[in-house]
Amino acid sequence: MPPKNSLVKNLLPSLDMPKRRRFLTGSASVAATLSVTSLTLPVNAEENPLWMKTPGKPMSGYGTPSTFEASVKRPFASGYPTVSPGTGSSRTPHQALEGTITPSGLHFERHHNGVPDIDPLQHELLIHGLVERPLLFKLDALSRYPLVNRVHFIECSGNSGPNSAPEPPQITAGAIHGLASTSEWTGVPLALLLHEAGIKPGATWILAEGADAASMSRSIPLNKALDDAMIALYQNGERLRPEQGYPMRLLLPGWEGNTNVKWLRRLKLTQAPTFTKDETSKYTDLQKDGLARQFTFGLGVKSVITFPSYGHKLERQGLYEITGIAWTGAGRITRVEISTNNGLSWKDATLQGPVHSKSFTRFRLPWHWHGTTHVLQSRATDDSGAVQPTRTVFTAPYAKGMNFHNNYIQAWAIDANGSLSNVYT
Ligand code: MTE
Ligand code: CO
Repeated sequence: MPPKNSLVKNLLPSLDMPKRRRFLTGSASVAATLSVTSLTLPVNAEENPLWMKTPGKPMSGYGTPSTFEASVKRPFASGYPTVSPGTGSSRTPHQALEGTITPSGLHFERHHNGVPDIDPLQHELLIHGLVERPLLFKLDALSRYPLVNRVHFIECSGNSGPNSAPEPPQITAGAIHGLASTSEWTGVPLALLLHEAGIKPGATWILAEGADAASMSRSIPLNKALDDAMIALYQNGERLRPEQGYPMRLLLPGWEGNTNVKWLRRLKLTQAPTFTKDETSKYTDLQKDGLARQFTFGLGVKSVITFPSYGHKLERQGLYEITGIAWTGAGRITRVEISTNNGLSWKDATLQGPVHSKSFTRFRLPWHWHGTTHVLQSRATDDSGAVQPTRTVFTAPYAKGMNFHNNYIQAWAIDANGSLSNVYT
């Protein structure tokens, strides 16, 4: 289990003085708890540790995390391990992370036929179909356009799928909800390129095709392409990672991950949806009445408590900060409420700014644990007024096992020993 949160959070009341003072000013009962947890100094406290006695390592061309963080990895699931080992997904380990930006090496991956090894000098993006002037771009030509940078999440519509199982799986927050990550993306607004190509009357959809061995393709309404779509070239300041679509991907903020076509090679303006294999065989939401909803692009308002969550242990009673991430395809998160009593009552968490549109928002709430059992839940609201639904409300219209677009409230139970488990409520 990644140690970060359990260690840091449990030592926080006694070792992190500035934070401790901040809490002390706020509440007398906090002070009482803190005095119980203060540490006695070890005898060798003033001795220099080993790593102060020899020179440190030299510089490196590209930095890597501390070896002590080696357990912070993406858990992965391969759909077809022998035929196509690159087909499947790996997930962001949210339970071990803080803040809102996902480190590029921990951004979730979802590949339909592995990661292509694309030579950026040979790769081209074609814009054609119902346009006045078909255009062909190399990476260097695209990189010369005025670029914009925006912080956005990408979420696979299959995210949180493990919670569709009849019994709640006892796996980490990342293993359940880790098909969602946030980066700062830099690229060219797609509207700019479409206007340059000249949109012909009658064009209402765009076929977007990737240069992977799956030729993954989706139909995108022209309106979205003209709104906030981007051809992303950079991720967190550096060129896109191969896993995220190097050298270019379509970014459709707030829309299901699948439409964010990676390794983008072709955009064809059309009169109607193309009905590609990827939007007819999958990515439709089967209802109880046997009909399936198609082109359900926008992602719902959602949140998950990342600490404490499955795999963490509250080692002793006292102050803990309940924290997590919230996001919505509609725009901004406006509120996150937390319940520690299985939904009987709710308290507003603090939203950590800046709150970007269609991005992770970090929420926090200080809380005292007195060694009793609890069920923790978080409930997010967005600026369209949408509130995260309960599991019962969400699943009502769908066929059994439908596991796309799950955004219902996640619950973690704490037992009297401070161990966490995943529960359905
Ligand atoms: N684009 C191509 N060309 N091939 C793919 O397999 N997977 C899609 C989408 N774009 C995919 C693709 C799916 S289902 C998702 S959820 C996102 O990319 C995942 O993006 P990521 O791997 O960068 O997290
Ligand atoms: Co997906």
